[in-house]
Amino acid sequence: MRLDKLLADAGFGTRSQVKRLIRKGFVTVNGEVVKDPSFNVNPEEDEVLVDGELVEYEKNYYLILHKPEGYITSTKDRQMTVMELVADIPRFERLFPVGRLDKDAEGLLLITNDGELAHRLTHPKWKVPKVYYVVVEGELKEEELEPLRKGMKFKDFEAKPAKVRVLKSTKNESEAEIEITEGKYHQVKRMFEKIGHPVKYLRRIKFGNLELGNLPVGEYRSLTEDELKELKKSVGLE
Ligand code: URA
Repeated sequence: MRLDKLLADAGFGTRSQVKRLIRKGFVTVNGEVVKDPSFNVNPEEDEVLVDGELVEYEKNYYLILHKPEGYITSTKDRQMTVMELVADIPRFERLFPVGRLDKDAEGLLLITNDGELAHRLTHPKWKVPKVYYVVVEGELKEEELEPLRKGMKFKDFEAKPAKVRVLKSTKNESEAEIEITEGKYHQVKRMFEKIGHPVKYLRRIKFGNLELGNLPVGEYRSLTEDELKELKKSVGLE
């Protein structure tokens, strides 16, 4: 494993911050100063110190959780948090959710301890697409979706044009799928509310290249190697 990756994974900063640390001579491997960020280390055998502090290697976890309704997307709260659902992972206190879903929302939530990946996936620069399945009040007509497709102005932000399609429409309620690339607070709810169709149910079904599939509510699984590779590639890593 590259020395800069080991340090970034261990929480010593972003990839470029740890490269600087290494080049400045703050890092030793088995007692020798190493100034090459691409230097190969075996995290399980080599002793790496940063400014005298031992680097404890920690395995990275990448999990897709099917968040149930009623859980808060946070690492600490007085109410039930999503972390309780991954508490059987070793040192799960070091994990955190990437982005957030409302307490009453369900669906795909990525949980990891990879800070650099999480930072990029939530940074607006990378425009990671997120797809939601929603049930809204009332009969949703094609022409009403125009504002969502054109982009919408709110007092605190502007929603970029969304991809949206109606799946089913009846007098009382309708089902739709919407893809957005931002992640503002209550964004999807606010968008449908603005066209007069409040959201009754919301489930995230895709996040970047990741799909919820038929993962049961409340359960999690690890990403496959291919999923992780593609996810990292989509935000310029590896
Ligand atoms: N938009 C919402 O309104 N809520 C969510 O949880 C996610 C997106």
